[in-house]
Amino acid sequence: MNNDRPLALTRRGVLASGVASAATSAAAPLLAAPPSPKAKSTEVALMQTTLKVNGKTERLDLDPRTTLLDALREHLHLTGTKKGCDHGQCGACTVIVEGKRINSCLTLAVMHDGDAIKTIEGLGTPGDLHPMQKAFVTHDGYQCGYCTPGQICSAVAVLDELKAGIPSHVSADLDKIAFSRDEIVERMSGNICRCGAYSNIFEAIADVAGEKA
Ligand code: FES
Ligand code: FES
Repeated sequence: MNNDRPLALTRRGVLASGVASAATSAAAPLLAAPPSPKAKSTEVALMQTTLKVNGKTERLDLDPRTTLLDALREHLHLTGTKKGCDHGQCGACTVIVEGKRINSCLTLAVMHDGDAIKTIEGLGTPGDLHPMQKAFVTHDGYQCGYCTPGQICSAVAVLDELKAGIPSHVSADLDKIAFSRDEIVERMSGNICRCGAYSNIFEAIADVAGEKA
């Protein structure tokens, strides 16, 4: 090894090279290509959406990613419809759209432009309850009540499904769709009640259907 030449490192030299490299990195962004004029904006264009909620026409400018549930609760302040899981597991958000029950957390509001939507607020009023609301009160079909608006909307639509002869997974005879405990249990299985008021909910539905529980 050649030890004749001393290592040419001095404090001044190290500092100078550090400053030079810092200056180079600071200059780098200035030298980078300017952003393309085609760069995408992060702003979302709002979509005009008309919903006929409980007989009233509502015009909303919505972010197209807004769920029907959020449009009802956050934009129209109809908080009777509840948010439980927000991904189709509990049924708390059930509303009736064009006569059919759906989980409003699983659908976008803009997909329902022009649709007629019924929420728990539109089924009855405190002074004039819907028969299903009355039956839930009579039969104690709830405890905390959080699942109740969804249960009631679902129950109303279930009886309409039976009347219309729409079969379910447990229908034995597709030509004779009739009320039975099995039919109700199956059709209401998407509405979860953490308080476990199921037997009373069944009694309420049977009462409205004019059947024995
Ligand atoms: S909140 Fe929609 S299914 Fe639970
Ligand atoms: S009444 Fe409490 S969750 Fe159903």
